[in-house]
Amino acid sequence: MSDLMTIIKGRRSIRRFQDKPIPEKDLQQILEAVQWSPSWANTQCWEIIVVREAATKEKLKESFPPTNPAIVGLTEAPVVLALCGKLQSSGFYKGQVTTKFGDWFMFDLGLACQSLCLTAHTLGLGTVIVGLFDQDKAAKTLGVKEGYELVSLIPMGYPAKAGAAPRRREIGEFTHYEKF
Ligand SMILES: Cc1cc2nc3c(=O)[nH]c(=O)nc-3n(C[C@H](O)[C@H](O)[C@H](O)COP(=O)(O)O)c2cc1C
Repeated sequence: MSDLMTIIKGRRSIRRFQDKPIPEKDLQQILEAVQWSPSWANTQCWEIIVVREAATKEKLKESFPPTNPAIVGLTEAPVVLALCGKLQSSGFYKGQVTTKFGDWFMFDLGLACQSLCLTAHTLGLGTVIVGLFDQDKAAKTLGVKEGYELVSLIPMGYPAKAGAAPRRREIGEFTHYEKF
């Protein structure tokens, strides 16, 4: 348990990377962590594109606002994982939405993403979850199929610089007992 807490608390968003490749077995283990993530009715709506080509990363950069602090890391990272989700599967039953929230693909992708980042961290790899970019433009670059959405890009590699931990809300600020 304390090991798990150390892993959870020790993971940081990493935005600068060393020029060092990621061993294939480590990449496979990270993908295995996604494979075993929970999802709505086990729909497993995730799809992952492994981007290694420098030219593709450069093209993806065009979908970033220049103010995104992860922009340098995007092309520096040896691997960028593009996290996509299948639409109208998670949260659906026989083609109909089952809750007021509609499609739960974002929720499932979030869980998979955390599994991915924590596993990478245990392997000494840094990641940053990137959400602030033009998803449609980047999806075109990556040839994402109709019926799927590209949600996040995750640059991954050996950290060049340790990240500082931003302050967290106190537990008492977000925990409610019995009622909100
Ligand atoms: C959904 C999501 C989107 C994010 N988008 C970006 C982003 O576009 N650029 C960036 O530099 N960091 C991004 N982050 C990283 C957060 O800024 C970071 O997780 C937060 O500040 C807490 O820091 P920590 O990850 O080191 O604990 C994103 C994180 C999440 C969960």
